[in-house]
Amino acid sequence: MANLWGGRFRSGTDKKAYQFNASIGFDCRLYKADITGSIAHVTMLGKTGILTEEEAETIRCGLKGILEDLEAGKLTISGEYEDIHSFVESVLTERIGETGKKLHTGRSRNDQVALDMKLYIREEIGEADSLLFGLLNVLEETIEAHTETYMPGFTHLQKAQPVTLAHHLDAYFEMFKRDRSRLADIRARMNTSPLGSGALAGTTYPLDREYTAQLLGFDGAAANSMDGVSDRDYLLELLSACSIIMMHLSRFCEEIIIWNTDEYRFIEIDDAFSTGSSIMPQKKNPDIAELIRGKCGRVYGDMMSLFTTLKGLPLAYNKDMQEDKEVVFDALDTVKDCLELFTGMLGTLRFNKEAMKKSAGGGFTNATDLADYLVKKGVPFRDAHGISGRLVLSCIEKGCTLQELSLSEMKEECSLIEEDVYEAISIAACVEKRNTKGAPGPEAMAKTIADNREYLKQ
Ligand code: ARG
Repeated sequence: MANLWGGRFRSGTDKKAYQFNASIGFDCRLYKADITGSIAHVTMLGKTGILTEEEAETIRCGLKGILEDLEAGKLTISGEYEDIHSFVESVLTERIGETGKKLHTGRSRNDQVALDMKLYIREEIGEADSLLFGLLNVLEETIEAHTETYMPGFTHLQKAQPVTLAHHLDAYFEMFKRDRSRLADIRARMNTSPLGSGALAGTTYPLDREYTAQLLGFDGAAANSMDGVSDRDYLLELLSACSIIMMHLSRFCEEIIIWNTDEYRFIEIDDAFSTGSSIMPQKKNPDIAELIRGKCGRVYGDMMSLFTTLKGLPLAYNKDMQEDKEVVFDALDTVKDCLELFTGMLGTLRFNKEAMKKSAGGGFTNATDLADYLVKKGVPFRDAHGISGRLVLSCIEKGCTLQELSLSEMKEECSLIEEDVYEAISIAACVEKRNTKGAPGPEAMAKTIADNREYLKQ
């Protein structure tokens, strides 16, 4: 046990209590953030004359050495320390002697850990964002390859109207774009430095909080020291954003799983992203897609966990807040893994254009277009809806599609129907005529693709 405290204690901590309290097992991943923050802190202590420039330089060199040795694997973080902060400070003092004990001047572990998490999270947001960007690029390639791949669009998982695969996939393009913008919002809002908030009430030393904020790339110092040490809002926002990313992936996976069934056969998942059965030799299962869908629940759990932890905490720091780490780390690890795997799986999917087109032609997906055709002939829409519906019903009775009805059969319902109806209700026409902004028609899609390309250039 190597504590940073103990002066006012008569006896040691119970062994189990010590372990229960310790966070080194998971906050070890904050080592780089911790050292980076300490370097900024000590640089400021030197600049303001709280420490001599020489002392500051000695500490800075010691800290840099620790970081280098950790990254090179020459130094390992040992579990005997309470947390990463104790570890770094102890190793520093072992290495540079008495001067090391001055590092923590004008600082508390409360502002230190708040800073470490912010530094760490900023990097992680960057990584998650790059993965989303990678996914968007693969998505865009797939979109551009499938502007003429017809498929049924669904509502209630019932065939509704024909769309294209490009159009369907583009819906996800929009979702993942919003996910990136959510991350950017969080990154911008969280970017204030807690350093110098002290335990809760600032310090008596003439710290230059704006200087450390600037050294660490923050927009400024947190305005209130109590808020500085106890703000975890950005983690809740991040967990919410992670949950939404996972929800998007999960919906996409659900579709992939459905499309990959023998009943649909719209797609085939590559062997690299499928697994087999130990008993049924014929099986090739979409386990990766299922697991991503499953892990969405896990990230929701991480989010709910921290919301619940923070509820009812009085100001300022409370040890409950240590519970922020494992859930946030778990959510980020999960999201990053899922994004990477999903991108790989999407990039290797094989699309069965014939099956999709055939499916788009069934289920009377052109019934709305038949009604629209009648509207063009002067029939009010509500009446046109009724005529089209009755024709669908007669098709169901005869076991045929709308296009398979003869002109005279159609005329029985409405004498205004002419030979040109067949062209008007062909699946290709149903798609090609839909060119309102954001629709699957070729003109609308060309505009969408141009916008997507522009977006990906930024
Ligand atoms: N391990 C602690 C955490 O993660 C660090 C802060 C400790 N502060 C304290 N007053 N015990 O929150």
